[in-house]
Amino acid sequence: MTHTIFVINGPNLNMLGKREPGIYGGKTLDEIDVDCRSAGKTLGVEIDFRQSNHEGVLVDWIQEAGGSASGVVINPGAYGHTSIALHDAIRSIQPMPVAEVHLSNIHAREPFRHKTMIAPVATGVICGFGSHGYILALHAIASRLGAGPDSLREATR
Ligand code: DQA
Repeated sequence: MTHTIFVINGPNLNMLGKREPGIYGGKTLDEIDVDCRSAGKTLGVEIDFRQSNHEGVLVDWIQEAGGSASGVVINPGAYGHTSIALHDAIRSIQPMPVAEVHLSNIHAREPFRHKTMIAPVATGVICGFGSHGYILALHAIASRLGAGPDSLREATR
């Protein structure tokens, strides 16, 4: 069976490339989408890549993942710092593996970015590695699902 991993992106991530490239890097979200699909091919998983600026839409997609996907990679953007709704949505799909990703190292930035509402209910968190964080997260989720290279599967046992 082919696993599907939802890659869900929150507010303002559609502005990547133009938006504060010194912090978030120069890649556009479309380029990150292409990178994720190519990682998906390597890992033998389907990638369903999405972005919305709307909290309720993100909640809908997390619930949808709970019904039809095997895992979730989410960059919740600023909602990661504030949203009890996203926290609850992720709780509702447990024990599905969920990786929280931030391009920037949120812990090295303003104090209001240090707290994440997602981390306590995520399987793990990757931040500070730019767009490569999405690829690291896909490898981590795939290995949880028993997909991808054997060495990675072993490493997370
Ligand atoms: C971000 C970090 C958040 O603090 C910020 O609001 C974003 C992007 C990141 O990927 O580094 O929109 O999630």
